[in-house]
Amino acid sequence: MKILFYAAKTYDKKSFDPCLEAFPGISIDYIDHELEPRTAALAEGYDAICAFVSADVGADTLSILAEKGVKSVLMRCAGYNNVDIAKAKELGIQVKIVPGYSPEAVAELAMGLALAVNRRLYKAYNKVRENDYSLRGLRGVNFYKKTAGIVGTGKIGAAMCRICRGFGMRVIAYDMYHNPSLEDFVEYVTMDELLEQSDLISLHCPLLDSTYHMININSIKKMKDGVILVNTSRGALVDTDELIEGIRMNKFLGVGLDVYEEETGNVYEDRSDEIMPHSVTARLLSFPNVMITSHQGFYTMEALQAIAETTLQNMVDADKHKRTGNDVA
Ligand code: NAI
Repeated sequence: MKILFYAAKTYDKKSFDPCLEAFPGISIDYIDHELEPRTAALAEGYDAICAFVSADVGADTLSILAEKGVKSVLMRCAGYNNVDIAKAKELGIQVKIVPGYSPEAVAELAMGLALAVNRRLYKAYNKVRENDYSLRGLRGVNFYKKTAGIVGTGKIGAAMCRICRGFGMRVIAYDMYHNPSLEDFVEYVTMDELLEQSDLISLHCPLLDSTYHMININSIKKMKDGVILVNTSRGALVDTDELIEGIRMNKFLGVGLDVYEEETGNVYEDRSDEIMPHSVTARLLSFPNVMITSHQGFYTMEALQAIAETTLQNMVDADKHKRTGNDVA
């Protein structure tokens, strides 16, 4: 079983190579290039390709992969909004993902972002390094006894609910499906009630047509003044232009984003020498109450190991045409 591994980083090799010992039938070739229509033909002769969040696994890419004989797409992530599932099914390409490799990894970053923007830790760090021990601009609020509103209570949202409970917060949530493991401390409410009552709103639902731009100027206007918004899910859950409008209305105590609409092209690249022609992200970063990280929610030792093991098991299952809970096509 041969896998072509797109957009490979050193940390990928470090987590996948040791796992290969347990999967003797699999070999991996790592390449730097991102998967997109222009690079899809490189997969000729491979059984499967392995791709990540910024790959373009749309209809054109999938058609080329099918033409070159690739039978499986192994996503080394939980989200698959960048894969044209209908096209994959039409072409008979199996698509497997790694759901829930470490929900705590993402949830802990979400709380980290909430704390960082609340207490302006990024400012405090730089101030002290500059010999500035003043407290100006650093005042935050207690989370204790405040209300956390969690949107999406699947694996990551549930972990975030547990963390917020640990902080002594009241936890409310919105999801079409109620997670039974949370019923002793989470109160399910409508989305409007969540927006109106929460001091901290954290997004943990997938990007779907129904969730695209779910945070827009209308939803922002329903939020409490001084709310903290955290998005570690997918950038397009939030309409960035309207978020900027909300920030300018002084709606937010803080905004913490691990994902944002413009991230494709940025994710895991060093672009520090480039002059950006037009960037909404740069405008976002001009605000003192915004902190952006570059899609690092998954990036812990435990999560990387789980991703590698599950992806290789997905390859074995794909080879046997075995359907599991990891199949999305
Ligand atoms: P999951 O599938 O366990 O849970 C998602 C939950 O969202 C489900 O309970 C579902 O019913 C709910 N949902 C769907 N539509 C909704 C809506 N309109 N409103 C409210 N809830 C809705 O997924 P999991 O593992 O918790 O991951 C959540 C998301 O986190 C993924 O879709 C992915 O986009 C993102 N993610 C981000 C990472 C990062 O590095 N920043 C890493 C891993 C995942």
